Amino acid sequence: MPDVSASVMCRGNERDVFKSFWNKYSGITDNRSMMLNQNADEFEQSDRMDILSSLPDLRGKDVVDIGAGIGRFTTSMAQTARHVLSTDFIESFIAKNRERNEKLGNVSFQVGDAVNLKLEEESVDMVFTNWLMMYLQDEEVIQFLTNALRWLRPDGYLHLRESCSEPSTTKNKTGSMHKAMEPNPTSYRFSSQYINLLKTLRHRDGNNKLWRLDPLWACSVPTYVNHSGNWRQVHWLVRKVEATDDEQVVPSLENCMQLFSDTWRQKQFGVDKVTDDKKLSWTDRILSRAIDNANCNLSMGSTVITFNPRHLAYHVEVNAHLISEKYSCNVWAVETKPYYYRTSLTKANSSKDTRVRFTWTETLLRAVDYWNGRNAHFHAFVGCETFANAPDAFHSLKKILKADARVILLEPVSSVEDEERLRQAIAASGLKNVVLLDVTTDANAAIVEYEASVTEPIVEEAPVIKGSTNETRWFLVQAVV
Ligand SMILES: C[S@@+](CC[C@H](N)C(=O)[O-])C[C@H]1O[C@@H](n2cnc3c(N)ncnc32)[C@H](O)[C@@H]1O
Repeated sequence: MPDVSASVMCRGNERDVFKSFWNKYSGITDNRSMMLNQNADEFEQSDRMDILSSLPDLRGKDVVDIGAGIGRFTTSMAQTARHVLSTDFIESFIAKNRERNEKLGNVSFQVGDAVNLKLEEESVDMVFTNWLMMYLQDEEVIQFLTNALRWLRPDGYLHLRESCSEPSTTKNKTGSMHKAMEPNPTSYRFSSQYINLLKTLRHRDGNNKLWRLDPLWACSVPTYVNHSGNWRQVHWLVRKVEATDDEQVVPSLENCMQLFSDTWRQKQFGVDKVTDDKKLSWTDRILSRAIDNANCNLSMGSTVITFNPRHLAYHVEVNAHLISEKYSCNVWAVETKPYYYRTSLTKANSSKDTRVRFTWTETLLRAVDYWNGRNAHFHAFVGCETFANAPDAFHSLKKILKADARVILLEPVSSVEDEERLRQAIAASGLKNVVLLDVTTDANAAIVEYEASVTEPIVEEAPVIKGSTNETRWFLVQAVV
């Protein structure tokens, strides 16, 4: 029989480690301890606004702010929400939080560990956390997020924000309050681990209905990109939805642990190995020529949205950094695969080009919703495999493009029927001045050249296609909205 008492004791000790880590900061009840940065006052407001501006409308809603500290976010959320429960395990933080927010009249306060928090099933509209998962062990993250799913009302929201892969201060440690000589128990997980976990968890309610978490988007926090050159401060907005018939798999805790602590980490390492050093892509020449030919008129101040589903192969991609460098423009790049979202953030952290930003959304439609909700209008759309993956999204794409915006697509076609479907989709899309070019010869030559530079082993999550032997034909679409 497994020694349960030993494992409980071990977990108990780990809790103490986190508690004493935070106790060391308990005498500093201001922005510095909340952001673990000596210079926090310089960018606290901007960081807070980044997060608050991405939350749903909280009017009439019940919110729980967990790991709330002195209540940086509690104050603003309570100004619109019906009620906020603000909780943290450090007494002095909650005392300061109370001093700041009690007068609002709709905030209650609780000192306690998030791991032991008890709330009624379906009792809140939003579970808000900002830098909390990184202070929980893997098993506690799984249990906490499953609890959050249970506490939320249907269609309720969960917000997470975590330092992924490295501390918020990045490797140069500007202003860091982590003491170099002291152990730091914080977990800097990959963004992909969180996305995969959110998508995996399930909760069955008393009426036998199965619920899941639906991550709507993941994004870097802009203040940290601008202030610290760090794209790996990531936040997520997630919704509670009913699981469909295809989503009935309810994983056990052990299964989740295996995936979260090991499988997804290993897969990410595998993908990183293949992609981390790649600055150039075989699509670069074909796409930049198309951007020039289509008279996109990109310049400083214009913003391009790019789309990378990476279904066919990892290297079928729009190279966002190349576009920003070549045309001095801003690029908002959409990735749909969690592993490639993480590698994009790694590249961004190393190139430090603040004109390039990345979002993860599961589909193009989700990206359109994200930008439509922010009333954004882009000067151009450049995508790979767009028709192949999102023919339905095409009409809605117009909502986020300026009048006369240019659309450039590189589309693989694997059969005569596929080509026909592509032609029909273009005809039905309402795009103007469409030019459709067969660029198969150029594409295959570029893939062959690219292959010669690839030395890493092929991994399941990073499939490749062969330029010399594959039967795929490539079409370039240039059009105007
Ligand atoms: C980096 S601070 C962020 C505070 C606040 N969310 C903000 O962004 O201003 C992390 C907070 O989480 C709290 N915390 C960490 N682990 C916790 C746990 N297991 N239960 C409750 N609070 C926790 C700490 O005491 C601290 O106040």
